[in-house]
Amino acid sequence: MTDRYAVIGNPIEHSQSPRIHQAFARQTGEQIEYGKILGDLDRFEEEVRKFFAEGGKGLNVTVPFKERAWRLADSHGERARLAQAVNTLALQADGRLLGENTDGVGLVRDLAVNHGFVFERKRILLLGAGGASRGVAGPLLEERPALLVIANRTAAKAEALADRLRPLETPVEGCGLEALAGKRFDLIVNGTAAGLKGEVPDIPGDCLLPGGWVYDMMYGKEPTAFVRWGLEHGAARALDGLGMLVEQAAESFFIWRGVRPRTAEVIRMLRQG
Ligand code: ATR
Repeated sequence: MTDRYAVIGNPIEHSQSPRIHQAFARQTGEQIEYGKILGDLDRFEEEVRKFFAEGGKGLNVTVPFKERAWRLADSHGERARLAQAVNTLALQADGRLLGENTDGVGLVRDLAVNHGFVFERKRILLLGAGGASRGVAGPLLEERPALLVIANRTAAKAEALADRLRPLETPVEGCGLEALAGKRFDLIVNGTAAGLKGEVPDIPGDCLLPGGWVYDMMYGKEPTAFVRWGLEHGAARALDGLGMLVEQAAESFFIWRGVRPRTAEVIRMLRQG
């Protein structure tokens, strides 16, 4: 019996998720089918309910529906609750929908496991306070760095996100981009949408410590604008988000199937185009 899964978003045409999950299925021998659904901006909730009513077992949810998926889910994992956004819906045995967010785990695993980044005692800057940043801020804090600063063009949004995360006990601050003057970081993660227009957030040129790393949650065939910024400003490593994409998919696959796929070979496959 083949179980059905899909990714839903708008736009969806260029999603790599079907390729990734099909590769996981081949590798693990799991019997699954994984498609893509162009979500309707007015009827997202109906479409999700229909997918599950027709026998679907799980969905990945992408832009712009992650907040709506969070509201729609019957119960939430801890990470989804912190993010107030859901990228993974899983049908439970009792028919209820569990919502989880695997983006942050994906980022942390790509940094720590695939690239050997050590969070301990590090000062981390997260740029942006939209859906992408909300998804990763909690899991970054769970790695217990020395400090997480969330900086956003609109300061109030970063302050609100930092306030929500304060109970996690690792020091966290929210501020505007202009407040970064004079501050230095070991790792800068870009979760803004600036790269969609080929731009980088307006941050001081010297805010990366010598030997520091940059990570762009976006990826592309060519180095992204933020990866280029990192290389131009002395980053020891400048990584794009392809590894995170595969790692978040692996965590979703694990939630659905209870099996953890090997990611390195899938990252290599996507890198080759
Ligand atoms: P997503 O869900 O992809 O994160 P979003 O919720 O619209 O999308 O958030 C986009 C983020 O990118 C926001 O933090 C936004 O800053 P504002 O909150 O001030 O709008 C940020 N952003 C977009 N374009 C940017 C730019 N050119 N420079 C800096 N930040 C930018």
